[in-house]
Amino acid sequence: MRVDLDSRIPNNVGLADDRKLQRALEEWQPNFKDWWMEMGPEGFQLDKIYLRTAVAVDPKGWAHFEHVKMPDYRWGIFLTPHDEQRMIGFGDNLGQPAWDQVPGDWRKELRRIIVTQGDTEPASVEQQRLLGRCAPSLYDLRNLFQVNVEEGRHLWAMVYLLHKYFGRDGREEAEDLLVRRSGNPDSPRILGAFNEPINDWLSFFCFTFFTDRDGKYQLASLAESGFDPLARSCRFMLTEEAHHMFVGETGISRILQRTCELMKDAPAEDVTTRGGIPLDVMQKYVNRWFSVSQDLFGGEDSSNAASYFAAGLKGRFNESMPGKYPDHLALDQVYNTARPDAAGGEQSVEVPMRRAMNLVLRDEYRTDCQKGVDRWNKIIKRAGIDFEITLADERFGRAQGVWSRGRYTPSGAPLTEAQWELRKGEWLPTAQDEAYVASLMKPVYEPGKIAPWIAPPRTGINNNGFDFEYVQFSDDPYARI
Ligand SMILES: [Fe+2]
Ligand SMILES: [Fe+2]
Repeated sequence: MRVDLDSRIPNNVGLADDRKLQRALEEWQPNFKDWWMEMGPEGFQLDKIYLRTAVAVDPKGWAHFEHVKMPDYRWGIFLTPHDEQRMIGFGDNLGQPAWDQVPGDWRKELRRIIVTQGDTEPASVEQQRLLGRCAPSLYDLRNLFQVNVEEGRHLWAMVYLLHKYFGRDGREEAEDLLVRRSGNPDSPRILGAFNEPINDWLSFFCFTFFTDRDGKYQLASLAESGFDPLARSCRFMLTEEAHHMFVGETGISRILQRTCELMKDAPAEDVTTRGGIPLDVMQKYVNRWFSVSQDLFGGEDSSNAASYFAAGLKGRFNESMPGKYPDHLALDQVYNTARPDAAGGEQSVEVPMRRAMNLVLRDEYRTDCQKGVDRWNKIIKRAGIDFEITLADERFGRAQGVWSRGRYTPSGAPLTEAQWELRKGEWLPTAQDEAYVASLMKPVYEPGKIAPWIAPPRTGINNNGFDFEYVQFSDDPYARI
């Protein structure tokens, strides 16, 4: 399908040939813009940001970089190319042709999956809307806005599917995606982690490392879907998602690097006296965001997960990668895990593999997180400092799943409620930690300058240096109101 960049909605889905759909989406577009102006990054809508825009789906040349005002960003609809031969790669429909239309029996479930994914996209923009006030550099400010506009495009990707394939219900769901608000008690976003406030840049980097990575794993499992338009949407979203996790991983790396430099310079001194973020505070933030992100994977023993897999709606990570899974039916295997028992201890259980698909995906996620953590630890080790960032046990700090009713240490040892209350400040950010991190959040908006709590990046964006003018501020005196 041809890439059409000139129409009101850039797309490669032949929108011009489907007037009814085009009109419906053109009616949704002003509502999206209103939402963006109300809930998007506050105070920067007149400034020109050096943004990457998707203009094609060719792996090599899909993006175009230029300075653009965020409301003028060209949010488009892009799917990876259609493969006529594509077969369903797992579950009971294994080997049958992939569906170009919604299978009638699974309409409700598919709509739910798409709405849940779609809801996370605007939610994260809402969570991050005030961060522009205190970015550590223009480079970071630009990266924040890049992530934000792309989450907006991901919303477009899901809204396209709802409008095209789900008729009137789909259009209503698309409207509701602009009505719910992150953290609003009356109409919250669907998933817990997307209602947590993100008020400082340490949280932002943890979010983009841990929570966007949950997004990567959800998108990857939907990229295997037998419903081909969903698979193709998610495949293209994954190319953008990689940058979000890069922002998170390098953000934390740069803070660690700065902290280590301060510790080496004056080993006897507390880094907070010199404006750094202590390693144990970093660990607490990691604990918080790793726990809430694990909650997003859903129940450990799940009949929904089993039926999504059986039907061919949602596969495993890289299900179609040759050699990764010897068996795409997953009928005869079990997953060995543990759960709490009535006596306050725990028992081992065998979950039929299909029912354990959320856990299977979460294991892949944990392994991926650990790789990033290992790279962080190399920075600390290279500085000669004896400290390691760790990923907590699955039991720690959970609000969902079988472990959510108990209290556990980061290494998974059970605690009474009283012990937990006494000790939780060792493992999760305290009000004092948060106040300290908040006190560091001061904007640095001169090209090439950076806040003292974080190191500059090694390279800039798109072959530009760190001192490039990533954001050109408007002269309009009202622009930042
Ligand atoms: Fe996204
Ligand atoms: Fe993302």
